[in-house]
Amino acid sequence: MTHDVLVIGSGAAGLTAALELAEHKKVLVLAKGKLTSGSTAWAQGGIAAVLDAGDTFDDHIRDTMVAGGGLNDQETVEFVIERAPKAIDRLCELGVPFNREEGDLHLTREGGHSHRRIVHVNDATGWAVQAALLKAAEENPNITLLPNQSCVDLVTGRNQKDYSGSGRVWGAYALDEESGKVVTHLARATVLAAGGAGRVYLFSTAPRGATGDGIAMAWRAGARVSNMEMMQFHPTCLYNLDVKNFLITEAVRGEGGRLFNPVTGERYMKKYDAQRMELAPRDIVARANDDQIKRYGLDYVHLDISHQPPEFVKEHFPTIHEKLLGLGIDMTKGPIPVVPAQHYTCGGVKVDLDARTDLPGLWAAGECTESGLHGANRLASNSLLECFVFGEAAAKDILLCWDKLDDPPEILPWDESRVTDSDEEVVIKQNWTEIRRFMWNYVGIVRTTKRLERAAHRIRLLRDEVEDYYGHFRVTTDLIELRNLLECANLIVTSALKRQESRGLHFTLDYPETDPIARDTVLVP
Ligand code: FAD
Ligand code: SIN
Repeated sequence: MTHDVLVIGSGAAGLTAALELAEHKKVLVLAKGKLTSGSTAWAQGGIAAVLDAGDTFDDHIRDTMVAGGGLNDQETVEFVIERAPKAIDRLCELGVPFNREEGDLHLTREGGHSHRRIVHVNDATGWAVQAALLKAAEENPNITLLPNQSCVDLVTGRNQKDYSGSGRVWGAYALDEESGKVVTHLARATVLAAGGAGRVYLFSTAPRGATGDGIAMAWRAGARVSNMEMMQFHPTCLYNLDVKNFLITEAVRGEGGRLFNPVTGERYMKKYDAQRMELAPRDIVARANDDQIKRYGLDYVHLDISHQPPEFVKEHFPTIHEKLLGLGIDMTKGPIPVVPAQHYTCGGVKVDLDARTDLPGLWAAGECTESGLHGANRLASNSLLECFVFGEAAAKDILLCWDKLDDPPEILPWDESRVTDSDEEVVIKQNWTEIRRFMWNYVGIVRTTKRLERAAHRIRLLRDEVEDYYGHFRVTTDLIELRNLLECANLIVTSALKRQESRGLHFTLDYPETDPIARDTVLVP
């Protein structure tokens, strides 16, 4: 099937690009599973933007760079932050019902921000944003939305290479999850917006499908990826034996929530960041929680906002309050047990300010990219913002250079002549679990070279097994994900071994100092 533009991903980045492109072109949007399956729908806290008279772009830029450990690209940071107010206007036009106070947008606060600057829809901002974008896309006759499609790989047309050893991208091969057939979707331009790789870790706030498919596909096609060692851990994921990945938004701390050691009762953040306490950037609070848990042999630490009036808590955090009540926890009366969990992939496919990747015909936006915005640690609520700004940038650039984009050539269909149905699904389950466990244990919040090398060794062993499996059996979504998880694990560990310093999210006991000069870890295929 041939389309004007193929967009892989129906989250904030993909749909923003699709809506902008659809003013002039026909767009096909593919999603793995449901159209709401990405992280966008799960976002809680909100979107950062300078909207208050007392706030400035300079302050937001500084906060972003401080959180990012100086690894951010200043031009990108300025580019995104200066476009934030317009992005919020656009979302208001699309009908996102942001909280307001006397007519003005209500601004909440999160860690690392020197001002209140987070617009939000209670504590379920992502769901409202996803719904508004989807509604606009569904109503647009130039957009076709196709759920249940797992892209396997990008179509690179290697027979007509025009980029230093890598193919021009002409679309993607996608497994139709219902029919089990792989369909070749060709397009003049492809936008990759397939989200992060959080599920490479045993504990993550990210949804089930966050398996780094976009990053792995782009890497295999020949695009550079950068800063993959910068995996962000959120300090406060609910600790519960049944519900493993429920986030307790940073806005709880923004509205006064405090962290306590449940055994000693100590409000311990004063030992780790006496000035900013619970509102220090995420890497610092996550490391503090991890340290307390390990030092005292705890299962969790306590996050407590019960000193605020019950009505205030219920009004600000209705979704979390209700969810916790269902689990027997009343956050208006007592503390919430929390642990750190993987939350965000700061690294990814390298893009420029036009959202161009290294590969002609391939643009990328959102969590699957490394644009230079987040550096060594993403500032809270800058991620959705990046999706809107770079989704739009990709669309604008594609439209601008449209006349120079050729029609796709003849491409050979997906070849299944040498594979059979798997009779050993257990291999997938076993390897999934193994990757996620060693990544959690060896490549977590605090790292050492020895542990990273252990992980690298495990990856080498698994690689042969997974590639052998991939070469012999028909693809399924589970197999596609396993292959991509392993690819991403390899990119993370390789990058972590290369960074011989501690900066932002990459903290290693073997190199505790920060180098005077900040350098990206760029991997070249
Ligand atoms: P996603 O929204 O993750 O969408 C990815 C899309 O790609 C999906 O449609 C998926 O189906 C599709 N896809 C993936 N693989 C394939 C494949 N192989 N084939 C076809 N399609 C594929 N950020 C903020 O700024 N503010 C917040 O308050 C906030 N809260 C968060 C809370 C949680 C619990 C989580 C997990 C994240 C939060 N984040 C927040 C981060 C933010 O939500 C994400 O970074 C952002 O939504 C990513 O958007 P995206 O469009 O890049 O990808
Ligand atoms: C949160 O609500 O704590 C998540 C915000 C973010 O990831 O930016």
